[in-house]
Amino acid sequence: MKVVLVGYMASGKSSVGRSLAKQMDMEFLDLDEYIEAHEKKTIEAIFADKGEIYFRKLEHQLLGQVLDEKHNMVLSTGGGTPCYGKNMDTILEKSDNSVYLQLPIAVLADRISKEKETRPLVKNLSDDELPKFIGKHLFERRQFYANAKHTIDCAHKSLEEVVTEIKKLL
Ligand code: S3P
Repeated sequence: MKVVLVGYMASGKSSVGRSLAKQMDMEFLDLDEYIEAHEKKTIEAIFADKGEIYFRKLEHQLLGQVLDEKHNMVLSTGGGTPCYGKNMDTILEKSDNSVYLQLPIAVLADRISKEKETRPLVKNLSDDELPKFIGKHLFERRQFYANAKHTIDCAHKSLEEVVTEIKKLL
């Protein structure tokens, strides 16, 4: 079985994915980490050295590759992964289950403000600018995330509660 988690930056895709995979005895793969290992560079360094377009092409190529090669995995994607090219169609075609982890803007802004440094798209924004940026960004991206087979409202839920909810959907 292949399960793909999508959602905005800091929505918990990696933590939820890691815990879900462990409980289901499946392989866990984080697409950002896979890209970093492939390039032998951090995401920030890829953006800084080669630019976002290079990153998006690589993200597209490696998404297709892992979905073709792995057969029993939970994959957490990057916040932008489903929103470029035909990536969301690929996710829907090649996975058994996709889940959108949905959170309110205020919660995302609060979490992102504490971990901006590793995220090139937000690292130069002040905390005051974050909610407006995220609101606008989500307005564009929500339509892609919403195509996932399932949506989970993660507000006021612990990681464990989110994982339990996903397990019931599978
Ligand atoms: C991005 C999200 C990041 C990473 C890159 C771009 C985005 O992943 O792929 O910085 O476009 O939202 P996370 O969602 O894991 O932060």
